[in-house]
Amino acid sequence: MFNKICIIGIGLIGGSIARAAREHGLSDCIVAYGRKSGLDNLSRAKELGVIDAYYLDIEAAVKDADCVIICTPVGVMQQIFSMLKPFWNEHTVYSDAGSTKASVLAAARSVFTEVPTNFIAAHPIAGAENSGVEASVVDLFDNKRVVLTPIKSSSTDALNKIITFWRRIGAQVTQMEVDHHDAVLAATSHLPHILAFALVDLLGKKDEQVEIFKYAAGGFKDFTRIASSDPTMWVDICMANKQELIPLIQQLQIKLAGMEQMLLDQQSQQIFETFSYANQARQRFLTQLDNSMSQSITFNVQPGGSLRGEIRVPGDKSMSHRSIMLGSLAEGVTHVTGFLDAEDALATLQAFRAMGVTIEGPKNGEVTIHGVGKHGLQEPKEPLYLGNSGTSMRLLSGLLAGQSFNTVLTGDESLSSRPMKRVTAPLATMGANIKAQDDGTAPLHITGTNSLKAIHYDMPMASAQVKSCLLLAGMYAEGETTVTEPAPTRDHTERMLNGFGYRVQREGDKAQIDSTGKLTACTIDVPSDISSAAFFLVGATIAENSDVTLKHVGINPTRTGIIDILRLMGANIEILNERTVGGEPVADLHVQSSQLKGIDIPEALVPLAIDEFPVLFIAAACAEGQTRLTGAKELRVKECDRIQVMADGLQILGVDAQPTEDGMVIQGKTTDAIGGGEVISHGDHRIAMSFSIAGLRATDSITIHDCENVNTSFPEFRNLATHLGLKLT
Ligand code: S3P
Repeated sequence: MFNKICIIGIGLIGGSIARAAREHGLSDCIVAYGRKSGLDNLSRAKELGVIDAYYLDIEAAVKDADCVIICTPVGVMQQIFSMLKPFWNEHTVYSDAGSTKASVLAAARSVFTEVPTNFIAAHPIAGAENSGVEASVVDLFDNKRVVLTPIKSSSTDALNKIITFWRRIGAQVTQMEVDHHDAVLAATSHLPHILAFALVDLLGKKDEQVEIFKYAAGGFKDFTRIASSDPTMWVDICMANKQELIPLIQQLQIKLAGMEQMLLDQQSQQIFETFSYANQARQRFLTQLDNSMSQSITFNVQPGGSLRGEIRVPGDKSMSHRSIMLGSLAEGVTHVTGFLDAEDALATLQAFRAMGVTIEGPKNGEVTIHGVGKHGLQEPKEPLYLGNSGTSMRLLSGLLAGQSFNTVLTGDESLSSRPMKRVTAPLATMGANIKAQDDGTAPLHITGTNSLKAIHYDMPMASAQVKSCLLLAGMYAEGETTVTEPAPTRDHTERMLNGFGYRVQREGDKAQIDSTGKLTACTIDVPSDISSAAFFLVGATIAENSDVTLKHVGINPTRTGIIDILRLMGANIEILNERTVGGEPVADLHVQSSQLKGIDIPEALVPLAIDEFPVLFIAAACAEGQTRLTGAKELRVKECDRIQVMADGLQILGVDAQPTEDGMVIQGKTTDAIGGGEVISHGDHRIAMSFSIAGLRATDSITIHDCENVNTSFPEFRNLATHLGLKLT
């Protein structure tokens, strides 16, 4: 990755970065800079083979380095920036490993006025009680989190390099706002360190210390382990983050005073409640930690090949969500077949179980829902965690706004950064009481009410999630709720409500509902998801000698934009055996290779293919001439910014792809369309699968990082894709 890495400060962290970078072949040459007082440590680093050379002169150390990582205590960063300033090179990537981030950026600002765009602040959350290069190890960061806190002006190129660097070392990279990072770390790391140091200080100074340490087995030892950490470093961290720490210490003091009072007043029940809450919260936290730290998945695709065969891709995600929601509110038992057994749909399923609904399955795509009726849901005991699923959160916010109980909706990092105002604002005008974060994102705190009022809402964007959210809220509102859409969006909510016997009137661009209806259980056959089929529609089109049949695919006209766009580009797709299943049109899709040509994608088709653009960009890269997408600003607020992330990845693969505010311009090529390389999916399932499909026309292998979220919509992707002929591992 780099010709020369310079580590400034070669202690435990700097040394471990150097060792890992060498182990993973990330640089030919790794050097260190240090002060004269640290000469012993520097020469030991050289002896141990951690670095190739060291310098006491910073100019010599950073000369020709294309990556510089500052691993000094945060308190001296300002000094380091001043020393680096005369030699700052715009072609070099700079980063750090400090435990606090606002102080580091402030140090950079005080030296450079603005934070240099090629400096990406980073915090590897890993460490050990020992310090110095002797303590450094090659696997310190294996499967550990590294938090990056880029700012608006940060260069995407520098950011991508730092992301790739840490991933290749084996770490899990997350991005956070600077202040958020410092607040989170103050609570999860800095405060516990202060507590551990303070407790050992307090008890250690007591006369009976010998007694204490003699009997201090389990609790004391576990609780105070971190008091063995390097005191100098921790003074430095606590001072740098005191703004966040002091309020937390104050809150803790109040908490402790409260506990003291409870003991004085013999309020054992209250003490029990505090302990039980903490006990359960810790359990939840450990489970979440386990899930979030589960091994990250990297895909590798070998270039070329064809796709041939007949498959059935998994069930439609949108319909699977809705089947659980409406089945739960229905009277009677609803049987679902073809249910999507993947994380997003399961998040909805778990949420309804948490609200007291008995749901059997999924087993082989079959789910049985014992409906509780429109007013039968119960208050969940805990916040509803919805993972990566925007559909779950937006639809549930509408449905839950009209319940008589309170709920909290949370999600993963991606979901927690997606805009929720689009639903909370119109719901508020209906009288809902929903509190989001200041920037309009989740967690959402919903205070139930049974006094929602109907509204007429003209949606400012074409969004089926917003429309569905309001229709579900409309089931609990007084009067006729109408939603008008600026362009047609998927209408599964309206169709399925009708299927359950709940009247939704549709007229042109308007859908209307009131609270007088009732849902009666039914059977639902969920067809295959055209959004999952899309990967193979494109794959079989761009790969030579391909012939694929996709069975039982939902071809609801609000979803078939992908077929229309590909056909306009010259694709050869046949729609066979058209039939209607449970109120939804279904067909088998037969697709064969063909040479595509670039087009201007009609804006009217954009909402009808909204989830398919990542893979359509791959098609465009292989088409003859230019393809231009406009009117697709919504892509910027999907599971990731799909315009930017796809453009970044395509450019890495040598494709001429220029992102625009609301779309992309791609100059396609008929031969050598796509090169090889390493791309990052940013945890977005569809980006990961799209770049996998790109392998069919690549000249070299493609590595795609961060593919675990393929499990949110299409866990069988790898199996089905390799079955058809994609060389994916
Ligand atoms: C969905 C609607 C679309 C789509 C999403 C699923 C739905 O989102 O992108 O994957 O099930 O209603 P928007 O409503 O934000 O366009």
